[in-house]
Amino acid sequence: MTEPRIAATADVDPSAKIGPGTQIWHLAQVREQAVLGEECVLGRGAYVGPGVRVGDRVKLQNYALVYEPAVLEDGVFVGPAAVLTNDVYPRSTDAGGGLKRDGDWTAEGVVVRAGASIGARAVVVAGRTIGRHALVAAGAVVTRDVPDFALVAGVPARRVGWVGRAGVTLRQDEGGGWRCPETGETYTEHDGRLSGPR
Ligand SMILES: CC(C)(COP(=O)(O)OP(=O)(O)OC[C@H]1O[C@@H](n2cnc3c(N)ncnc32)[C@H](O)[C@@H]1OP(=O)(O)O)[C@@H](O)C(=O)NCCC(=O)NCCS
Repeated sequence: MTEPRIAATADVDPSAKIGPGTQIWHLAQVREQAVLGEECVLGRGAYVGPGVRVGDRVKLQNYALVYEPAVLEDGVFVGPAAVLTNDVYPRSTDAGGGLKRDGDWTAEGVVVRAGASIGARAVVVAGRTIGRHALVAAGAVVTRDVPDFALVAGVPARRVGWVGRAGVTLRQDEGGGWRCPETGETYTEHDGRLSGPR
C-alpha cells in the first residue's frame, strides 16, 4: 500500500500515527498521539484531537471536528462540519473565574462503531455511542446512544427508521422482518434492537 499523502498546509503532529494509503487534505489538523488507520480520507479543515483513535477507511469530510478521546472504528463516515463533542457541561473558567486547563476537567469521548455514518452538521453530545452501521441524519443532535442500524434524525435525535450495511433504508416484509432493497439482506427486530444481517 502507498505511503500516506499529506498536503503541505495540513498540520499533522509528529507523534501522530498515520496508516498507509491515508490522505490528509489542506488545512486539516491531526493532534499529538492521534492514530489514523489505513486508507482514511481527511477533508479540508478536518480536526482530529489528541489521542483520538481512528480505524481503517474512515472518511472525515471538510471541517468535521472530532474531539478527544473519541474512538472511530473501521469504515466510519463523518459528514461536513459535524462535531463529536467531549464536554457535557463546558466552562472556560472555574467558579472563581480562573482559566480551566487540561486536568481541571474530564473529557468524555464519543464512540462511533464500525460502518456508521454521521450526517452533515450533526452534533453528537459527549460520551454517546453511535452503533454499528447506524445513520445520523444531517443536522441531528444526538443526546442518547444510537442502536446498531438505527436511522436517527432531528433535535433531539429520534429513531425514524432502520438502515442496513449498505446505508439504505430497510423495508418491512409481511413477516415483520426488515429487508434491504439493495442487498436483499434481512434483519430481525426485537425489543427496539435490530440484529442481522442474514
Ligand atoms: C435522513 C435521510 C437519510 C433521509 O433520507 P430519505 O430516506 O430519502 O428521506 P426523505 O427525504 O424521503 O424524507 C423523509 C422524511 O424525513 C424528513 N427528513 C429528511 N431528512 C431529514 C433530516 N436530516 N432531519 C430531519 N428530518 C429529515 C423529511 O422532511 C421527510 O419528512 P416528512 O415525511 O414529514 O415529509 C437524509 O435526509 C439525510 O439527512 N441524509 C444525510 C445526508 C448527509 O448529511 N450527507 C453527508 C454527506 S454530504
